[in-house]
Amino acid sequence: MSRPRQLGLAVLLGTASFVAQAEDAWVAEARQLATSVPPKLLAVLNREIEQGGAVQAIGACQIQAPEMARQASAASGWTVRRVSLRERNPKARPDAWEQAALEDFDRRVAAGEVPMTLEKAERVDVAGVPTLRYVRALAVGPVCVQCHGDTAQMDAGVKAKLAALYPHDRATGYAVGQIRGVITLSKPAP
Ligand code: HEC
Repeated sequence: MSRPRQLGLAVLLGTASFVAQAEDAWVAEARQLATSVPPKLLAVLNREIEQGGAVQAIGACQIQAPEMARQASAASGWTVRRVSLRERNPKARPDAWEQAALEDFDRRVAAGEVPMTLEKAERVDVAGVPTLRYVRALAVGPVCVQCHGDTAQMDAGVKAKLAALYPHDRATGYAVGQIRGVITLSKPAP
């Protein structure tokens, strides 16, 4: 009696560990992508700010960021975007899953966790389609506050250009160490 049951358990455990391994592989892949794109954008931002100042660099965040996301998407099969609880571009609004992750990340940062390390990976159903989803926090660093910081301290030219481009901008008032948003990846599960 006990033998077949043990065998059954072994098969079950074997399957479970196989699934865990398969999930680790996609999570590692998503993490790799999510940590490789932001430093590239930061390099462009720094270069633009150095060469032409923050007003000129607005174009880097406006045009190059979505372009980098598109390229990363095309090269990897993941859909890559950026979203925020207080978005600048109206297209950057989170869906319910992303919003829950963002709110959780904000709570954890308030409790002392380091923003750079915050991530969430989950296999979820999106309108009946099994989907792999991954988000990783984008922290506010010193360079970011030039365009996302306290408006009272912002360069007048930056303020004017942001107001012209984004009349419904909600992405100001951030301080270094907060979470500006997440990079969000998804693709249909295999
Ligand atoms: C030179 C100005 C500038 C700087 C510096 C800057 N940003 Fe932005 N940021 C923008 C603009 C403009 C947008 C809107 C882009 C668009 O239209 O998609 C934006 C959008 C974003 C978004 C997408 C969500 C949203 O609100 O639309 C995130 C996330 C973001 N920035 C994070 C950062 C982080 C993190 C830093 C620092 C490493 C940073 N930004 C530095 C100008 C800037």
